[in-house]
Amino acid sequence: MSVSEALKSRISTRAFLDTPVSEKEVRDLLEKARWAASGGNLQPWRVHVVAGDKRQAVIDAVKESLQADPFANESEFSVYPDKLWEPYRSRRFRVGEDMYELLGIPREDKLARLDHLMRNYEFFGAPVGLFFSIDGRMGPGQWAHLGMFMMSLALAAQEAGLATCMQEAWTPRAKTVAKVLGVEEPYIVYCGMALGHADPDAPVNRLRSERADVDEFATFEGF
Ligand SMILES: Cc1cc2nc3c(=O)[nH]c(=O)nc-3n(C[C@H](O)[C@H](O)[C@H](O)COP(=O)(O)O)c2cc1C
Repeated sequence: MSVSEALKSRISTRAFLDTPVSEKEVRDLLEKARWAASGGNLQPWRVHVVAGDKRQAVIDAVKESLQADPFANESEFSVYPDKLWEPYRSRRFRVGEDMYELLGIPREDKLARLDHLMRNYEFFGAPVGLFFSIDGRMGPGQWAHLGMFMMSLALAAQEAGLATCMQEAWTPRAKTVAKVLGVEEPYIVYCGMALGHADPDAPVNRLRSERADVDEFATFEGF
């Protein structure tokens, strides 16, 4: 698979088969992703990979914390700014609506939408979960580099025939996740990722989100 093909075919997969993924398979992906670039070669990423009992322990702890306080934000930051503005607001709205349409869940059915949202906290059925942490003293540059690492990992997974979904849904539960994983200060848990085999029959996996055209975000001068 070429890089172009991996870029084009990778999507956020939100329904997985329970087909196991071995530790070796995940190690191979991390072996590839570790070649991601980072400013000053800081490589400011830490990864916790969970499967089996450990995966279940994370799920159980987060479910318990959600039951105790569904609206708590345990993270140092909010995933999005308080009120999104255009064009970001519409983009976010659109991808959500497209997803719920594929799932056959109308706007009014808040409970069914919530149920789907809660599937995040089961890795959408994926047998492997990854959590990405960073030293909390790092700045925006290093956070960007962590993102580049995550994308490299997602592309490597795509090449290997595996599917992923990056999951900031875990971010508001960062402290609960950190406790289960043993992530200690100054490290903070940023984001999760579901990894496994996509369910080819799940309608939600047909979602192909839109993108702005190149001319909307790039300018070319001096050519
Ligand atoms: C850092 C990051 C975190 C994300 N968190 C979630 C999440 O918690 N749950 C979810 O369903 N999708 C999540 N997504 C998926 C985005 O909604 C998705 O990438 C976007 O809509 C573009 O669609 P695509 O990935 O299918 O191309 C996340 C994506 C990124 C990059």
